[in-house]
This record gives sequence, structure tokens and C-alpha cells, in this order.
Amino acid sequence: MGKKVTVVGAGFYGSTTAQRLAEYDVFDTVVITDIVEGKPAGLALDLNQSRAIEGFETKVVGVTTGPNGEGYEAIEGSDVVVITAGLPRKPGMSRMDLLETNAKIVRQVAENVAKYAPSAVVIVVSNPLDEMTALAQLATQFPKNRVLGQAGMLDTARFSNFVAEALNVPVASVRTLTLGSHGDTMVPVPSKSTVNGRPLRDAMPAEQIEELVVKTRNGGAEVVALLKTGSAYYAPSAAAARMAKAVAEDSGEVMPVCAWVDGEYGIDGVYLGVEAEIGAEGVKRVVETDLDADERASLLAAAEAVRAKQGDVANM
Ligand code: LAC
Repeated sequence: MGKKVTVVGAGFYGSTTAQRLAEYDVFDTVVITDIVEGKPAGLALDLNQSRAIEGFETKVVGVTTGPNGEGYEAIEGSDVVVITAGLPRKPGMSRMDLLETNAKIVRQVAENVAKYAPSAVVIVVSNPLDEMTALAQLATQFPKNRVLGQAGMLDTARFSNFVAEALNVPVASVRTLTLGSHGDTMVPVPSKSTVNGRPLRDAMPAEQIEELVVKTRNGGAEVVALLKTGSAYYAPSAAAARMAKAVAEDSGEVMPVCAWVDGEYGIDGVYLGVEAEIGAEGVKRVVETDLDADERASLLAAAEAVRAKQGDVANM
């Protein structure tokens, strides 16, 4: 049977994710939902009208959902559900400022996903990311490998872009890695970053790497400050769509994602940004990589910071 993916939330993040997923032309159906009357149906109609030009057969279905789960029957049979629902940041806000508001929204969505698409892999992108991923797992009661969050790919892509720009080299020649949280305790990993296969540390001085690390950590906030309404969506949706595709194709690709870490790096039981092999069951395996002592210490600090907040969401 053909694959089905649902994107919950038809804001810019959700709609661009749905567009990318449709244009991959690997799914039978892309469902996009929102609580706004007509908006998902309008976007679906528009996307379907692009099929003849872009050349994809995937059908997009747009559904408005209600407070008591109305409309959710449309997501039945989804292999993957991407949750983008929630508010984005406003200029000056941290992702954590969205915690209580988005917790209510994500909990309600996750409960409906559990009811109507009980075998889906859930990819969370709502902020604060690490906490909303933990909450979605609690609310769905899905096995932890079947709930993951999008952030590491985005943060890594930002880091790679900044390195490529600074060195004026093709972005394809740059490999970087970021782990940790999608927030203040993000852990860019220069020791695993390369340019044309050579260590980044040989390509630029330590101070410049540190500048780009800071720029990466502020990558989302810089976009929010410029846009003034809403947050980034082109790079975020690119990352989320790639993850959904890896699940649908059972690709086994290793990606930086927010995954349940229990034992790796000596960290117990917490959702955290790490590298993981992605496939039909979500996270097949967390891939532990060698880190410098300071990078490892930063990752442990990130784990404790997000653990404290993830404890709070259980009651939200
Ligand atoms: C960002 C938001 C989507 O980093 O978390 O742009």
C-alpha cells in the first residue's frame, strides 16, 4: 500500500513541509490539518493544482479539525505524522516562553493522533522542541522510538551554511554536527565538522569557529527578529520533510534528531538531540559518536537542562 503522511498545522512551517513532502512524490497521500476553517482545504487545492507543473502524483488532502477530534478520521492509516501545531516565537522571545501555551495544543493533538493513527511515527517540530517531543510521547503513550523531534538537522544545516559562507566554499563540501537541545544548550560539535573531508579546525581559527557556533545557536532568533511575525520555515521544513521521508522509505539514514536517549553517552532517560538511524519504526538506534571532553561535558549539561523542563510537561 502507498504511504500516507499527515502534517498537523497549516502555518508556514506546516504548509511548506506538506509542499516538500508532496513534491518528493513518494507518498500516496499528504494530509494537512488545521483548526482554521477552510485553510487546509485551500492549501491542498492549491498544491494539487501544482501537480501538473511539478510532476508529482501524490494527492494532498486538507482537513479542518475541531476541539473534540472532529476531522481527525482523515489521518487514519498515516505512516508518519508531523506535528507543527502551536505558536511560533515573536521577536525577543525564547523558545521556552512558548512552553505552557504550546503544551496544551500539542497534548490535544497528540491524543488525537494516538486515537486515529495509532501506528504512526510522530515527528514533533513545535517549540520548545525537546519538551514538546517528550510531551507528545507522554500524551500518545507510543513507544519512545516512535516519537522523535526535528531540530538537529536544522541546527546542523545552519552551521554548515555559515561555515560555507565564511570560507566561500560549496555547502556540499561542508559537514557539521550539532547535538544537545534546540535552545540555549545547543551543542555544535566542531570536532566532527569537516571541509572537503579535512577538520574544520584546520580550515579556520578557533575564534571564528566560536563565532559561527554562536550564530548557529541564534540562527532561529535572527530569522524571527527579521520576519517580525512568525519564525523560520524553509530550513525547518526541509529538515522535517527529510525525516518523514526517511521513515517512509525505511532508509536507515543517520540524522541528528531529538530522540529518547537511555544509556548512550552515559545519559539516562531523556529526549535529547543526538544522531540516530531513522527508519520505519522511527528511531532504529541512537548512534553514539566520539566527542571531545568539552563537547561531552556540554552534552551532559544539555541533558540535565532539558530533563528538568521535560519533568514539568508531564503536568501540562
Ligand atoms: C527555529 C525554530 C523553528 O529554530 O525552532 O527556527
